[in-house]
Amino acid sequence: MQKNHHEKVEKSVGLLGILTIVAISFGTLVQITPLMFMEETTQPIDGLKPYTALQMEGRDIFIREGCTNCHSQMIRPFRAEVERYGHYSVAGESVWEHPFLWGSKRTGPDLARVGERYSDDWHYAHLMDPRSVVPQSNMPAYPWLDTNVLDGKYTARKLEVFRRFGVPYTDEDIAGAAAAVQGKTEMEALIAYLQSLGTALK
Ligand code: HEC
Repeated sequence: MQKNHHEKVEKSVGLLGILTIVAISFGTLVQITPLMFMEETTQPIDGLKPYTALQMEGRDIFIREGCTNCHSQMIRPFRAEVERYGHYSVAGESVWEHPFLWGSKRTGPDLARVGERYSDDWHYAHLMDPRSVVPQSNMPAYPWLDTNVLDGKYTARKLEVFRRFGVPYTDEDIAGAAAAVQGKTEMEALIAYLQSLGTALK
């Protein structure tokens, strides 16, 4: 009897396809659903701070300039990675990231914990001309960041959108966003962003 049932499935492509989809969907749901309700993956870690207005602009410059094409922001829990970059990344660090910039391409080093590792001056010199501080570097130079000045036109709007996604910005944060970035260079914004990366996890 049982053999006959199995034979039926094996001999009917349509039925086999449908049952395969059912089996895979069930497996997927079992893996993913608990993650949506576990505190460890949905709650921010203690000490996580929303990006300041300036850091938020820096993050958008990071995306615009394609830094993600060469830099990941995701330290995997392997010894080689942890010894090189620091504590592996945890989900609670990324709950306010929209979208997250974990990436997968590492032409350059991972940047998940680069915050506070170098001085602002080092970053400035490095972004103006990477070879001035790392002679063998093949990273491009970004000198225009130093002359492009932010006008803050969309900064408040960006914070508002993030607040809609659950990032705890206050009304004052949003009201003061434009003034906080006006007149600053893109370079200052990008460095402020880089210096914040990975610093919440102690
Ligand atoms: C073509 C690939 C490439 C792109 C694009 C790129 N980088 Fe890099 N980056 C590298 C390489 C390679 C290194 C390692 C050598 C060095 O320090 O310059 C590096 C190093 C760095 C470091 C030092 C990391 C450390 O731990 O020492 C920082 C910070 C950095 N990049 C930021 C950026 C930012 C910000 C951008 C975008 C504006 C960017 N990179 C774009 C390739 C790239």
